[in-house]
Amino acid sequence: MTTGVVCAVRGPAETVVVRELAAAGHRFEVTRRCADLAELLAAGAAGLGALAVVSADLPGLDREAVAHLRGSGLRVVVVPGAPGDRLGHLGADGVLGDAHDVVAALEAALAAPADVAPDPAAPPPAARVAARLDGPADPVSAPGAPAPPPGRLVAVWGPTGAPGRTTLAVGLAAEIAAARPGAAGDAAARDTLLVDADTYGGTVAQVLGLLDEAPGVAAAARAATTGRLDVAVLATLTPVAAPGLRVLTGISRAERWPEVPGPSLDLVWAAARDLAAWTVVDTGFCLEDDEMLSYDTRAPRRNAATLSALAEADAVVVVGTGDPVGLQRLVRALGDLTEAGVGAERRVVVVNRLRASASGPRPGDAVRAALHRYAGVDHAHLVPEDRPACDGALLAGRTLTEHAPGSPARRAVQALARHVVGALTPVPVG
Ligand SMILES: Nc1ncnc2c1ncn2[C@@H]1O[C@H](COP(=O)(O)OP(=O)(O)OP(=O)(O)O)[C@@H](O)[C@H]1O
Ligand SMILES: [Mg+2]
Repeated sequence: MTTGVVCAVRGPAETVVVRELAAAGHRFEVTRRCADLAELLAAGAAGLGALAVVSADLPGLDREAVAHLRGSGLRVVVVPGAPGDRLGHLGADGVLGDAHDVVAALEAALAAPADVAPDPAAPPPAARVAARLDGPADPVSAPGAPAPPPGRLVAVWGPTGAPGRTTLAVGLAAEIAAARPGAAGDAAARDTLLVDADTYGGTVAQVLGLLDEAPGVAAAARAATTGRLDVAVLATLTPVAAPGLRVLTGISRAERWPEVPGPSLDLVWAAARDLAAWTVVDTGFCLEDDEMLSYDTRAPRRNAATLSALAEADAVVVVGTGDPVGLQRLVRALGDLTEAGVGAERRVVVVNRLRASASGPRPGDAVRAALHRYAGVDHAHLVPEDRPACDGALLAGRTLTEHAPGSPARRAVQALARHVVGALTPVPVG
């Protein structure tokens, strides 16, 4: 069978690649020699090949472009532009050191599993923890026990209507930082990281009084896409907002959302797991896959940051509000999450702003019964309406943990944090 190859190789290597492929008989056929990235992407989108050989120094080639080619069904092999090029950040299927080896490199790329791009520079993927989030933590042994173990990642998500995603994300991160869970492992000494990945107008920096901060998440995404992001760089981008709590601030001006592309965030999560024992991510509300909404498939995707965080998270805290509208949105949102690939086993459902005035004299019983009946949710965490504590913390630019430690809202968030940490913490067997 002949496999089509689109090439965008610069310099003398192009001739070598084309000659080697011609010498391989009918195995490969060069279907297009592209002069630039636009032509390469168009050739990929037109289905002109199953493989792409691309120079790493092709102007404009970055992780998003490689992801786009892969999304068009191509396996991508990159050719270093200069000796010693670090190419792992591109997320390609292979690297071609010597153009004479192109046939072997393409065969290897074709043989690799479809959904996994070998990424030589990326840290090992964190082991997912099989946890029952609706019940007591399962005992899970640490496989291979690398030191330090990769941190856990918790995404906080909820539907439209400002249900309290940011309040809970900040609260959870602050509680985890204050408790420093991790027992005897190295994780005990590592910080907690709070990431603002809301591309509809992040407010984490403002909530924590970090008013002068440039959007750290945009800087981290830029570093990721150019191969410069590692744990040390991420540390420089994450100021310490409270003891043990680092913050990667977000896009506070909503129109800057294209600066946070999803494929770059995939690398940010990897660096976050190296930097922090726990990462808590505040996300946007929308789960629509923007590509379905646009004819321009190369256009940046506004919801990709949220979808990337949800895909990566070990647990997703799903927040709704304790009133009839909020509950109905929450029920629908749980269905949307299932469609987005976030199953019930990864969810922790929270009803925030619970109050008798909106849900009846026994509001906890009422919302739990409704969630059970309409969404099959067996356990929901409840956070009461607590204006004095939440407003006071906001006004002071401090966390609930610092500002109102004895308040009802803080105690509920603390209990939620204990539950999440307990469910995701490996318990050695024996
Ligand atoms: N339990 C609570 N009691 C009282 N007020 C609360 C509570 N939780 C959140 N709030 C308040 O509700 C408002 C919205 O909360 P928050 O900003 O956390 O929501 P969000 O889901 O992140 O919204 P957005 O869509 O703007 O990102 C804030 O003023 C916050 O202080
Ligand atoms: Mg918010």
